[in-house]
Amino acid sequence: MHDQAKKRIRETYRQTAENYDTGVSERLGDSRWGIESLTGLLLRDMRFSDNPVVLDLACGTGLSTFKLIEHLNGDGEFHGVDFSPEMIKQAGLNAETLGYSIDFRVGDTDDLPYPDESFEAIISNMSFQMFPDKPKCLEEAYRVLRPGGSIALLYGAGSHLQELVSLCLEYAGDRPSLTGFKKAVNDVSWMHIDLEETQRLFWEAGFRRPLIYGYHRVMHVDPKQFWHTNPYTALWRTHVPVDLRERVDKEIISLMESKASRGFKVNWYTIQAYGSKPR
Ligand SMILES: C[S@@+](CC[C@H](N)C(=O)[O-])C[C@H]1O[C@@H](n2cnc3c(N)ncnc32)[C@H](O)[C@@H]1O
Repeated sequence: MHDQAKKRIRETYRQTAENYDTGVSERLGDSRWGIESLTGLLLRDMRFSDNPVVLDLACGTGLSTFKLIEHLNGDGEFHGVDFSPEMIKQAGLNAETLGYSIDFRVGDTDDLPYPDESFEAIISNMSFQMFPDKPKCLEEAYRVLRPGGSIALLYGAGSHLQELVSLCLEYAGDRPSLTGFKKAVNDVSWMHIDLEETQRLFWEAGFRRPLIYGYHRVMHVDPKQFWHTNPYTALWRTHVPVDLRERVDKEIISLMESKASRGFKVNWYTIQAYGSKPR
């Protein structure tokens, strides 16, 4: 199950790497509430030592890493790892454009390409939900952190986008051409964990002094705009056969519109989880 889910997710980012920033970045794209703001929320509750060595786990195209560098006024050593070679390539190009020096590497969160005790801190923005083996990821994070080091995660959780997930699953029904799409939407069922599960995983991995809370809001969104710019919908769409995409887009948007008297209702639910490795 893990391998297939990973394959689906890697394929998604292979297809979307070049355009990822457009929908989700405030600086390199046209988002109004995007990765930079989310990373800002994540960093707000984090304490760093002087000149820390920091890893951005599942750094994607580097948007969260750049925000981190700015947060620390460039004082530190910055690393980013992601299992998508295409996202890492784009991260390198973005860093060049912005003039940042970052060690970006291709690597899986199940088997991080770093020696033990390499980092003072680890951050990860909007990615933890996608790791099929969450205990393994936390075990690896613990291994590469120095004693006294800290981890901070922000990720989609619980009932995140539940209305849209139900609508898409109903739409895909038993249409054989949409099997891949249905599987990708269905991945949400294992992706999202709640506060208590997060607490349990942190504790079992060895992290202490946990600070774990949820950020839950209900929004009414414009169906067309949301469908075409949300990272989750982009993820699912990559598993619709290319020749059907336009039709599927139209039909799903129209279903969303039929349920959208004040805009289509979406639950936006993210968790922020912080913990420390004991000294
Ligand atoms: C929504 S993007 C977030 C990227 C970045 N943190 C940001 O805030 O823009 C999720 C990223 O997680 C990466 N990812 C998913 N599963 C992974 C895994 N098992 N190991 C490493 N990276 C993974 C994907 O390749 C993708 O770049």
